[in-house]
Amino acid sequence: MAEPCPTAEKVREKHRKKHTGIKDVRFVLAVGSGKGGVGKTTVSALTSMALERAGYSVGIFDLDFYGPNINLALGLKDKKPIIEFGEIKPVIADQNIRVLSLALMISEKEPIFMRGLMASKLLQELLQKVKWGPLDFLILDLPPGTGDIFLSMLELFAPDGFILVTTSHKMAIADAKRTTVILKEMEVPLLGVVKNMAGFFENEEAFEEFLKEQRLKLLFEVPMFKELSTVESLPELFKDNSREEFLETIADKLLDVVFRVH
Ligand SMILES: Nc1ncnc2c1ncn2[C@@H]1O[C@H](COP(=O)(O)OP(=O)(O)OP(=O)(O)O)[C@@H](O)[C@H]1O
Ligand SMILES: [Mg+2]
Repeated sequence: MAEPCPTAEKVREKHRKKHTGIKDVRFVLAVGSGKGGVGKTTVSALTSMALERAGYSVGIFDLDFYGPNINLALGLKDKKPIIEFGEIKPVIADQNIRVLSLALMISEKEPIFMRGLMASKLLQELLQKVKWGPLDFLILDLPPGTGDIFLSMLELFAPDGFILVTTSHKMAIADAKRTTVILKEMEVPLLGVVKNMAGFFENEEAFEEFLKEQRLKLLFEVPMFKELSTVESLPELFKDNSREEFLETIADKLLDVVFRVH
């Protein structure tokens, strides 16, 4: 007799178990857009800070191998992951966010030359060697584009949720639409959309239309932080308590949707 068809959940679970590097992670959340420069890294950093301050253990994996920069967003200067006995220990940012990024492992001046195959081997190796320890959330800061690397990463990590970042600029929305279709085809649960640089582009109607047409939820908005051009990092921007409420709102919205879906 033919075996019953396993549910999608079980398939995902089985798939994940293969990768020992993330077996102790409760939720893997991917932050992506398709488009470059719309704020994926900024939103990944904000999300991790929000969840950490809400009392959860959080890690960030910078998967932008060609332009790694989560170290700058989180203000990690001159810190290096400890590599011993073939294991990699992530660097700690903000209060206790565990971070792994190629930017922490190579010099700032070193150019990154890597063909696709090498990048995918490196990803497998990092995934096996990094010791995140038990985590409630692992945030994946995805690279721009929806090419080979993006697709392989989604397959490899089988994220529990995808956070789609866009601005309300028509070019960003066009790419976000395409990404939505890819995610549907790959059966990656799309948790909702983050509107970055909210209020900066005067194209709010197109954004609302996009949400309606794709039946997507607005997770939260990130305003334009002009100070980001002068302060060193996001933790510095949030070091006094005046913006604490903003992070609390992000955490509430995310937790609400994550626990509702799972
Ligand atoms: N809400 C914001 N307010 C002010 N500056 C912002 C905001 N969001 C992003 N930026 C700035 O815009 C630039 C691009 O942001 P970021 O690196 O987060 O985008 P990205 O989508 O990760 O880019 P890439 O595709 O290269 O990975 C950075 O200099 C960042 O500081
Ligand atoms: Mg980025």
